Amino acid sequence: MSQSKSYNPKDHFFKKAHAEGLRARSAFKIEEIAHRFKIFKKGQAVLDLGAAPGGFLQIILGEVGPTGVVIGVDLAAIRPLGKPNVKTAVLDVLAEDFDEQLRALHQGRFDVVASDLAPKTTGTRNTDVARSLRLAGKALELSQSRGRPGGHFITKLFMGGDFEQFRNEVRAVYDEVKVVRPEATRGASMEVYLVGLRRKA
Ligand SMILES: C[S@@+](CC[C@H](N)C(=O)[O-])C[C@H]1O[C@@H](n2cnc3c(N)ncnc32)[C@H](O)[C@@H]1O
Repeated sequence: MSQSKSYNPKDHFFKKAHAEGLRARSAFKIEEIAHRFKIFKKGQAVLDLGAAPGGFLQIILGEVGPTGVVIGVDLAAIRPLGKPNVKTAVLDVLAEDFDEQLRALHQGRFDVVASDLAPKTTGTRNTDVARSLRLAGKALELSQSRGRPGGHFITKLFMGGDFEQFRNEVRAVYDEVKVVRPEATRGASMEVYLVGLRRKA
């Protein structure tokens, strides 16, 4: 991954994640978004896209509790989380048979579709932005095909390119759309999260 000079892997959120037994600093991002917009409820079904190593999953599992169901997928394997109500799988969300594979993991609708999908950065901004948009587009597509009306959507996205157009696409599907840059985001990062609240019927 290309990193700016200001990148410091041992920064505050990195250390805090380690101290709290969280697998990634990104746990604090989903925690902030979840609490700000009251995203989760006990017993919900949640899809987590780009879930390795499992920071989001740890927070989501706490939010939905033992009666919830959480599905996490990634190109990379996710170490077992030691809970019976989470299923993980090594899958490419852009693969042709992804939707079918996902249905094999969980047949019902999801209350929340969350995506922290990010491409491997190349250092060429336009390429990275376009790849990020492609992944966010797939997440939005899944939130429409597998999310439930009234449910919520969260996706990471690199700023730039067709960002505004994508935000309008999310607006067409959700009652309200927020752009969030969580506190735990690294200073030099070009990422933001789009949060779609209450999917239209
Ligand atoms: C920022 S990391 C996710 C961190 C994770 N949310 C956490 O809290 O631990 C982005 C992830 O997106 C995954 N990813 C990128 N492209 C993907 C694809 N086509 N299919 C599945 N996962 C993908 C990467 O493997 C990487 O693990």
